[in-house]
Amino acid sequence: MENDLQAIVAQAETILKTVSSRADWEQAKATILGPNGSLTRAAKGIGQLNKEERPAFGQALNQAKKKVEGFFKTSNESIEAQADLASLGEKADPSLPSVPSYLGGTHPLTNVRRRVVSIFRKIGFTVAEATEVETEWFCFDALNTPDDHPARDEQDTLFFPPNSTWANITQKAKEAHVLRTHTSSVQIRTLFKEKPPLRIIAPGRCFRRDTVDATHSANFHQTEGLYVDKNVTVKDLKAVLDYFLKELFGDKLETRLRPSFFPFTEPSFEVDLKAPNLGKLSNKWIEIMGCGMVDPEVLKLVNLDPEEWSGFAFGLGIERVAMILHGIDDIRHFYQNDQRFLSQFSNAT
Ligand code: DAH
Repeated sequence: MENDLQAIVAQAETILKTVSSRADWEQAKATILGPNGSLTRAAKGIGQLNKEERPAFGQALNQAKKKVEGFFKTSNESIEAQADLASLGEKADPSLPSVPSYLGGTHPLTNVRRRVVSIFRKIGFTVAEATEVETEWFCFDALNTPDDHPARDEQDTLFFPPNSTWANITQKAKEAHVLRTHTSSVQIRTLFKEKPPLRIIAPGRCFRRDTVDATHSANFHQTEGLYVDKNVTVKDLKAVLDYFLKELFGDKLETRLRPSFFPFTEPSFEVDLKAPNLGKLSNKWIEIMGCGMVDPEVLKLVNLDPEEWSGFAFGLGIERVAMILHGIDDIRHFYQNDQRFLSQFSNAT
């Protein structure tokens, strides 16, 4: 009978070598350990033995059972491991290092905004903010932009209808509300609230009724700057912007001012830059921002005497800076939330 037990152990070992699925394993278990299994039947044989023979058989039975159970346990583990591998896909190679975990990161536009703000902070500018829903008056009139100015054209500006929820909430239904078309409204709001000398930087979101293409987006970001003090001249404007652009794009950068027009600055300029480290844009003059000396009309509106106070202002697009810095050729990438695009900037600061 003890020979039978050895045969059963050998049977278990052989069967389990061929087992490759959970169903095969269950079947093998029934064949050996089930109610009619070979080991169960052998165990019942103890009843036919004499008293003296029983202890030795019992011991042999226990050992056989342990061995058989050990085979089943090992077999079970290998079936589970195979199932895990199968669920990972056939090509999984467990010897490869694990995929690095991606913790997420800030958006490239957030990175650029933070960089711009930190550069201006170093020279004493503080951040100012205002609402994205703006009155038509603060967006245009207060910035010396008269009613018939093309910037107020309905093609450019997103107006709230007079009876819209927003207009009702603010209880100023008579006043037209717009989504601000530029951050310049923060300039004038700050001038109403604070006394000069002042130096502010105002990053924020703007909106225009633009048709979306590679360089236009109905929703975009600007950063406004304003510096008002005594004896501020174009020289100060140029020095501050040169410093800022060199910090951002590198020391080898050159800048130039071109005459331009903005209703709230006089004189007004476009700033161009040229740098050797800008990929395809290297060594070409690129328009980067608008600026100028605060128009005396704007100062008068906030009761500042233009003979006593002067200042400069500037505005630049965050998307534009990010596109030049990183060689991005389509503004739409910023808003499509494509992980393959965004993760390239997750370590940028
Ligand atoms: N607000 C202008 C725009 O959206 C940009 C700008 C130009 C802002 C000159 C300024 C400035 O403060 O002085 O195109």
